[in-house]
This record gives sequence, C-alpha cells and structure tokens, in this order.
Amino acid sequence: MNVTDAVLGRRSVRAFLDKPVPRALVEEALAKASRAPSGGNVQPWKIYVVSGEPLAQFKAQVAKQLAKNPMGDAPAEYDVYPKSLKAPYRDYRYKNGEDLYGLLGIARENKFARLSWFSNNFKFFGAPMGLFCLVDRQMGPPQWSDLGMYLQTLMLLLREAGIDSCPQECWSLLHRTVRTFLEAPEELMLFCGMAIGYEDRAAVINRLRTDRAPLEEFCRFIG
Ligand SMILES: Cc1cc2nc3c(=O)[nH]c(=O)nc-3n(C[C@H](O)[C@H](O)[C@H](O)COP(=O)(O)O)c2cc1C
Repeated sequence: MNVTDAVLGRRSVRAFLDKPVPRALVEEALAKASRAPSGGNVQPWKIYVVSGEPLAQFKAQVAKQLAKNPMGDAPAEYDVYPKSLKAPYRDYRYKNGEDLYGLLGIARENKFARLSWFSNNFKFFGAPMGLFCLVDRQMGPPQWSDLGMYLQTLMLLLREAGIDSCPQECWSLLHRTVRTFLEAPEELMLFCGMAIGYEDRAAVINRLRTDRAPLEEFCRFIG
C-alpha cells in the first residue's frame, strides 16, 4: 500500500465486526504516528486507548449517563462547529448529514430516529477498541491543528495495517464522563474519540462515500 492508497482508502467507518484488533498492530501505528510534525516539535497529543472489559464497563457507564441526561455533560468545553456556520461550510455539513441519513432511509423530520442512530457513536459503533485524544488546556489553535496531523497519520497507518477507524468529536458532549473514566488529570481537555476495528462490510452505513469540493474551490495558484 502506498500513501495514495491509504489516503483514498481511509473512510469513516460506522459499523464494525465483533473481531478484536491485535494490540501490537495498534501500538506500532500509535508509535509511528508520533512522527507527525508539530510546531516546535511540542507533540501535544495525549492518547488513551480502551478495549476489552474496561471498554464494556465504560460503554455501560455512558449508556447510564445518557439515559439520565441525553444532552451530555453540559457545559461543552468547546464548540464542535462555529455557532452560525457560514456557506459553503454549512452546505457541506448539511449535505453530509443528508447523505448519511438518506442512506439509512431516515427522513430529516424524523429527529427521534436520527438521534437514536447518532447514539451509536456512544458505543464506538460496535468497535472493539476506542481511543481518546486529549490536549493540555494550555495549548491553543496551532497545537490543536497538530492533533489533527497526529490523528490523520494514525488513521493512515491503521489503514496500512488493514484496520478501519472513525474519528468522533461527539465524545466532547461527554467530556466529564470520559475524563473521569480515564482518570485523566484536570489539565487535560478532551478533543475527540476514535472508533478502531474492522469494517462490517455488510452494514449499509458503510456504503457512505463523502464528497469533496473540487481543487479550484479551495486552492488558488498565484504565479
Ligand atoms: C475531528 C473529527 C471528528 C469527527 N467526529 C465525528 C463524530 O462524532 N461522529 C461521526 O459519525 N463522524 C465524525 N467524524 C467523521 C466526519 O463526518 C467525516 O470525516 C467526514 O464526513 C468525511 O468523511 P470520510 O471520513 O468518510 O472521508 C469526524 C471527523 C473528524 C475529522
């Protein structure tokens, strides 16, 4: 597999097989991914990986927490999207949601069905492994962008090892529950989670192929 294969082959997978992921493969990918660049080489990523019995306990705890408070652990620590997302970003986001729920046959008006499907996020979509990426609260936008470099490098290396993933900002809604479970120090803030496992190819949701704006829309050559 070359880099292009890994880039084009990576997709957000939202249904996984009940098949464990060899820890050694993930450990290797996590270690290699730390070759990702970061401004000043500060390497701001802090990663927690959960699987096996602790993951089962965590999911049970999350289900209980969501039953008590479906809105999650308010107040949120960061806005997943700007408060009034402008065009064209808003349109891309809208289309993404319509494509995803359209594939599942869930109409826009059926908020209940949409929400109940969304709650699969909080089971890591059935993946046998979940990862959380945290960052020191001292860090700002440049270091948060470094987290993205780490996470994409990791997802590409996982692809190389035949492993699928889905990054998940939804966990920010449960930042307190997650941090308590991880026993992470107060100085660390949760950025996102990531489901890690093997794609269930029979699942309809995994047929989703997302769009991208053409090059001319986001890039200008000068000179
Ligand atoms: C930081 C980040 C957070 C995301 N959070 C979620 C999430 O909470 N739930 C989800 O289903 N997808 C999530 N996604 C997946 C995006 O929806 C997906 O990357 C986008 O639609 C493009 O599709 P692709 O990953 O299949 O190429 C997230 C992606 C990123 C990069």
